[in-house]
Amino acid sequence: MRLPAEEASEFLTHGKVIAVPTETVYGLAALATNPQAIAKVFEIKNRPADNPLICHFYSLEQIEKFAASISGNTRFLIKHFSPGPISYLIDLPSESPLFFATCGRKQMIARIPDHPVFLTILKKINVPLAAPSANTSGRVSPTSIEMVEKDLGNNIDGSVDGGYSKIGLESTIIDARSVNQIIILRPGAIGETEIQTILPDVSIQRVTSANSAEATPGSRYTHYAPKTPIYWLPEEHRLVSNAIILHTDEQLKDFKSEQGKYFSKNNIHLVSLGSVNNLPELAQHFYERLSSIDLLQLPIAFMLKVNWGNSSLSKAIENRMDKIIQHSEF
Ligand code: TXA
Ligand code: MG
Repeated sequence: MRLPAEEASEFLTHGKVIAVPTETVYGLAALATNPQAIAKVFEIKNRPADNPLICHFYSLEQIEKFAASISGNTRFLIKHFSPGPISYLIDLPSESPLFFATCGRKQMIARIPDHPVFLTILKKINVPLAAPSANTSGRVSPTSIEMVEKDLGNNIDGSVDGGYSKIGLESTIIDARSVNQIIILRPGAIGETEIQTILPDVSIQRVTSANSAEATPGSRYTHYAPKTPIYWLPEEHRLVSNAIILHTDEQLKDFKSEQGKYFSKNNIHLVSLGSVNNLPELAQHFYERLSSIDLLQLPIAFMLKVNWGNSSLSKAIENRMDKIIQHSEF
């Protein structure tokens, strides 16, 4: 059921679970302080019980009311980048109404979303909203209300249409609690370059895969995958048929001229993710194009290797691609 923002705010205040638009991906929102509402989010998403939820706020002042303390770097970055596609690890006091959303963790991850509709809802309710991406656990994050409806359908109490998500990939998550070092826990549209430009003296680390699961439990699970299994296209074994080939616009020309040489023409579907020369457009439609391959009902998909470049968005796309690709033998 699609709802106007006003009604969605009412519903949320009364403990309902509503899909809301953000500039990154759609979120499945519930009052962060209401244990029953939080439990419903876990149930609807089929989310592992130890995987905490990001809490959304409308201002730094609102975050301050819930935080034990906010470090100088965190405060500086919030003032610079928020509202925006970036989330911050923040210490909570020893007693906090947000412990349901954080699964008992002593830190929350806080974000101020840059979407007028979601900000209106947050201000109206004046209580933080926990909102993981509005997808069943393990599926791709939705970037339009149609994608939300297709995945979660009638299991939710309603959804609010806010158009296409502008960014298309989940927010960057950082730990900026220390003075000298910032750790990027999940890469996103804002990355090392953007942070280093405004904080040139801080060292920026990317969390390693070895400790990422502990830092952000969600990174432990296979994520974002469409139903069709996707593998890298093996160099030496190119005679595939009955498959989807995922590629970028730039690869299409080469690929077509080689197709006769390397591929059986038997039932091969080419699907482009977009152009590497326009990564914002590619990122915005990334999950939508990926999930569209399931409609082709083919047993397998192969991705051509791509050099995504060096920007923060390149690294975020590479990170999501790495989670989508099956690393086992096929
Ligand atoms: O862009 C986004 O961040 C979107 C929109 C809806 O805001 N939300 C989103 O939430 O991507 P989700 O739940 O799909 O991913 C949140 C990640 C998970 O890996 C989770 O484990 C981690 O953040 N996380 C959330 N709260 C945490 C906490 N208190 N401590 C450690 N990790 C946390
Ligand atoms: Mg998610």
